[in-house]
This record gives sequence, structure tokens and C-alpha cells, in this order.
Amino acid sequence: MEGIQGMNDMGRVIEADRAHVWHHLAQHKAFETSDPRVIVEGKGIRVWDARGKEYIDAVSGGVWTVNVGYGRESIANAVRDQLVKMNYFAGAAGSVPGALFAEKLVTKMPGLTRVYYSNSGSEANEKVYKMVRQIAHRVHGGKKWKILYRDRDYHGTTIGALASGGQDERSKQYGPFPEGFVRVPHCLEYRKQWDVENYGERAADAIEEVILREGADTIGALVLEPVTAGGGVIVPPKGYWERVQEICRKYDILLHIDEVVCGMGRAGAWFGYQLYGIKPDFVTMAKGVASGYAAISCTVTTERVFEMFKDDASDPLSYFRDISTFGGCTSGPAAALENMRIIEDEKLIENTIAMGDRCLGNLQALMEKHKVIGDVRGKGLFLGAELVADRQTKEPVAEKLAAQVVAECGAQGVIIGVTNRSIPGFNNTLCLSPALIATPENIDEITGAIDVALTRVFG
Ligand SMILES: Cc1ncc(COP(=O)(O)O)c(C=O)c1O
Repeated sequence: MEGIQGMNDMGRVIEADRAHVWHHLAQHKAFETSDPRVIVEGKGIRVWDARGKEYIDAVSGGVWTVNVGYGRESIANAVRDQLVKMNYFAGAAGSVPGALFAEKLVTKMPGLTRVYYSNSGSEANEKVYKMVRQIAHRVHGGKKWKILYRDRDYHGTTIGALASGGQDERSKQYGPFPEGFVRVPHCLEYRKQWDVENYGERAADAIEEVILREGADTIGALVLEPVTAGGGVIVPPKGYWERVQEICRKYDILLHIDEVVCGMGRAGAWFGYQLYGIKPDFVTMAKGVASGYAAISCTVTTERVFEMFKDDASDPLSYFRDISTFGGCTSGPAAALENMRIIEDEKLIENTIAMGDRCLGNLQALMEKHKVIGDVRGKGLFLGAELVADRQTKEPVAEKLAAQVVAECGAQGVIIGVTNRSIPGFNNTLCLSPALIATPENIDEITGAIDVALTRVFG
């Protein structure tokens, strides 16, 4: 294959990887008898592994990240130009791309005005938690320090972020966790917790019940994914968001929307929360912000919140005393600016809506054919198919069978995902999130491979 440098040395690369790299979220025993996957090149929606095998990547770099696709020279050039001019200075100072990206970003987020830079989704969320705690001290006399989070949602891998995680297989064995993070029920209607007509409102009322139980004067914020990602691709039911917003206003609770996955077009809008007309106090984002061309995350908030940290300049503890060393890297906002230009100029949000509809339609058609698909759901190019052993009882398929479907797709040159080490007993939802540049042919190739894989695994 053309363009891959040093293919002859790939045996060495694989051995070096096997000997020295500790892979993310991987049980390494398997690498004693099979090679670790090494991805060496990407172009558009396709990637190639060390053996030269070509794949269509239906998960944008594995974890919903490479929104504009691989091999974008204009992003690489923007980053290079910025790096040779000014690569880094600590974030107490400003930078040219930092200022320009923040200005551009907030034009897509009416009501929000301030951007705080860091490096990962986990870190962006931790910033909010620290802000909420500091607001509790400074504004509420030490009250309103608790943070509500939802069952099945994920907000990151650090200890604080895990404390706010609703995926028990992610947090098990890493405790004890800090106090003050309180769980509210999930809103997945397919896995009903209440037998009612207006499920969305009922699921939101469950949040109010927790607030009343804990005491509204103890709760500072509520963090939610707009559409839950790794917890099973959960699209909140009708009526949910309106009620959530109402509850937050009623009890003076700040609403923090985690757009780490849904942000930057993935769900068919600049940000997922905009699909529901909600007005958050904090929005965090990471993955698609620079499509993985550089590390960047943002914590975005309102002028109202920002003002709380500068109202008393005579108090040396009054401001947000936080720093993220690499939040000062200029490569992130330089890449993010060009990434946003591409999304706009190539009309990728419009494409995401159209291709998302096509993909959802294809999955619905597969559901007719394969009884093992119990439910399909999603927004834009962010979709899931939940696999069940029995449609009546909704018993999830065994995890290893879901993994086999992923492997059978891989054998056909299609990389798909599955909820992984997430909810005990429910790692059974296939995940799709191709790059926002996907064509109708790409979508059909992806769902065609799933069709074949389901037949091979379940008959
Ligand atoms: C919704 C959500 N929030 C936060 C994170 C954490 O982001 P990071 O891995 O960049 O720390 C993730 C990662 O998958 C995520 O899915």
C-alpha cells in the first residue's frame, strides 16, 4: 500500500508495542497469543493497520473523536504554522488561536461567553466540579456543594470524574471516591423503571425526588450527557429536558451538560443540548473539538458564573485558582479553529443529519430481519443497536456474543464499537459514530457488514 512509511519495520513496531505499551481499556493477556492492533494510516473515513488491512472506521477513532475524518492537511498545516510561531505559554496569558477559537466557539453557543482550556474531557468536567464547589463556598455559605449525576452516564476517568460516573464497571475497585456526588436514575425508556405514559417527565421527576431527599440547599449542580454515549446510546424521551430545565430553575441548581461526545456536530447540531432547546450554565467538550488532531478540551460557561469569580478582587482566594499546564498549548485551539471551519464550509452538520437518518433507517430495517436487535436509537451520526437474547424479556445477549459481532465486522474491514466495561450485565449495545463526512455508500457498507456479522453470530 502506498504512503505508509517503514512498513518493513512493522514487525519491530508490533514487538515494541507488545513489550512496552500499556494499552487503554485492554486486558493484555490476549496479546500473548495475538498481535496488538496498531493503526498506521488514515484517510477520510478509512484507516489501515500494520499488516496493511484496510478498514472503514465506523467509530471515528474508536471513541467518537475524528469528526472531520483522517488526513486533513489543512489542520496539520494550521497546527504546524502555529507551532513554529508560538507553541506554548502558560494559560495565565492568552494566545492568538486561543482567543480566536473562543470567540468563534461562543458564536455557536448563545448565552455562553467564557471558555476555559484544558486537555481532556475528564479534566474539563473536573473544572466544573471545582467551580461548583468554589461557588458553594463563596456564594452559598458552604451549602449547595453536592453534584447530581445520572445512572449510566460517564464523565471521565479521574477519581473525581469517576465519582460522578453512572457506569459501575468503570469505577469498581478504584474507590473510595470523594463525597458529594449523588446518583439520579437513568432515562432509558427501553429499560423502563416506571410504567407510565409520559416517561420523559417521569424520569425527570425522579431527579426532583433525589433533590428533595438530599435537600435542595445541598445541591449545586446537575451533570448530564445530552445523549448518553458509552452507557448505551440513550436518547432522552420526549418531555425529559423541559422538565429537567424546570427543576434546575426551581431549586437554583446549575445545569452542566457534558458534550464531550455529542459536541461539534456529532448529534446533528453544533451541540447536543441545542436539539432540546435547553439553556445550560456549563458545557464541557473535548473529543471532536479538534477531531483528535491535537489535545484540547473546553469548559464553557455564562457571564453570570464568570462574574462570581471576580466580584471581590481584594480577596486573594476569590478567583478560580486552577491551572492546566497543557491548557496553554496553542496546537489545540489552532486545530480546533480549522476543524470548525471545515464543519461549516463542508456543511457537515447537514450531512450528519442526512446520513444519521439513513443509518437509523438501515438499522431499523436490520431490526426487521434480526430478532436479536431489541432496540435501535440515536441522534445524528451517533447510533446504537441494543442486542437481546429475547425480545419479550429483553434479556441482554451475552457480552462475548456482542464482542463477536464486532469481531465479525472487523473481519469484513468495518470497525464498529460496543458498550464496553460500562453497565454490569448490559455491555450489549453496538455503537456507530462514523466521521461526519460519511457518504451514503459508507453508511450502507457499515450496516451491510453488521447484517452479515449478525447472521454469522446468531444465524
Ligand atoms: C461523555 C463523556 N464525558 C467525558 C469523557 C472523558 O473524556 P476523556 O477521555 O477525554 O477524559 C468521555 C470519554 O469517553 C465521555 O464519553
